Amino acid sequence: MSTTANGFVHAIRQLFTAPQNTQQVSKTASSNVLPTNSIAILSGKGGVGKTTTLLGLAGAAANRGLRVLLVDLDPQGSLTLAAFDRSITHSSLDAFYGKNLADLASPVSWKEWPGKIHIVASNRALSRVETYVEPAISTYRLAQSLGDLSSYDLVLIDAPAALSSLTFDAIGIAKQVLVVAEPSLFSLKSASEAVEFALSAPQIADSNLRSVKVLLNKVDGSAESTFRIKELRSMYPKLVVKNQMSLSDAIVESNSEGIPVQVIRGVEASLAANEFDSLLTELLGTK
Ligand SMILES: Nc1ncnc2c1ncn2[C@@H]1O[C@H](COP(=O)(O)OP(=O)(O)OP(=O)(O)O)[C@@H](O)[C@H]1O
Ligand SMILES: [Mg+2]
Repeated sequence: MSTTANGFVHAIRQLFTAPQNTQQVSKTASSNVLPTNSIAILSGKGGVGKTTTLLGLAGAAANRGLRVLLVDLDPQGSLTLAAFDRSITHSSLDAFYGKNLADLASPVSWKEWPGKIHIVASNRALSRVETYVEPAISTYRLAQSLGDLSSYDLVLIDAPAALSSLTFDAIGIAKQVLVVAEPSLFSLKSASEAVEFALSAPQIADSNLRSVKVLLNKVDGSAESTFRIKELRSMYPKLVVKNQMSLSDAIVESNSEGIPVQVIRGVEASLAANEFDSLLTELLGTK
């Protein structure tokens, strides 16, 4: 490549990676190793159940005694609303301005699983660092802002619905990408865009090879649901996970209270909790 071409690529990268309207702060030397289990949850479409899936996986993991870090990268902040009821003094936005994610974590407000689940809260102003990205030529901003996450067994990252820079940054700190889809025409189209977006994102390093998977959520017994599930499974025979999440009143109830479904009593809640547990087993590859 010519020097001019190199200069152009560098300029484009700067455009996509530099934080807006601020000075980049140099990082302190600390470990920036992704935990073995870090999952970014995305969709390409709003309302399909990203945050719900994250809450369910967090509850399933905490039930096993795992230590979990939730990272809210959605400016909308639904996860933060559910999991954090104190005033927000620091947030994931700070990780774009030189702080480490590890230093931004606080215990969640749920009384269950004391000390097991922490959250890096969201901030409305995250939309300030939201820009268009071209995965093939962009670089990750948060990947150098992890800090020491070795005290966590699982990191779950909630991405915004849009396929732009915050979603890209979520991918950059994940070992697995889980694209959530509903069995409907529009959702499948968005899911395929999200899959392509994630597949075209560069690996961080060969030792951190990333996998992309697709989860079907809000599955019911309707003909439309059955047809779309078949369609998605034939489109991505290797990517769609075996486990799928049923449409569940218990999930609606737990979401309205801002708690993982594992906290809710009743038969339907137990069914949903079991589905999340099986999903976690499939994603982590262990029980
Ligand atoms: N399996 C399910 N059964 C029934 N309702 C569900 C299920 N999963 C999600 N929902 C409902 O769908 C709605 C959207 O869920 P959620 O907020 O998790 O989606 P999201 O993809 O995170 O949305 P956004 O893109 O706005 O962040 C909520 O009302 C939630 O209760
Ligand atoms: Mg959400």
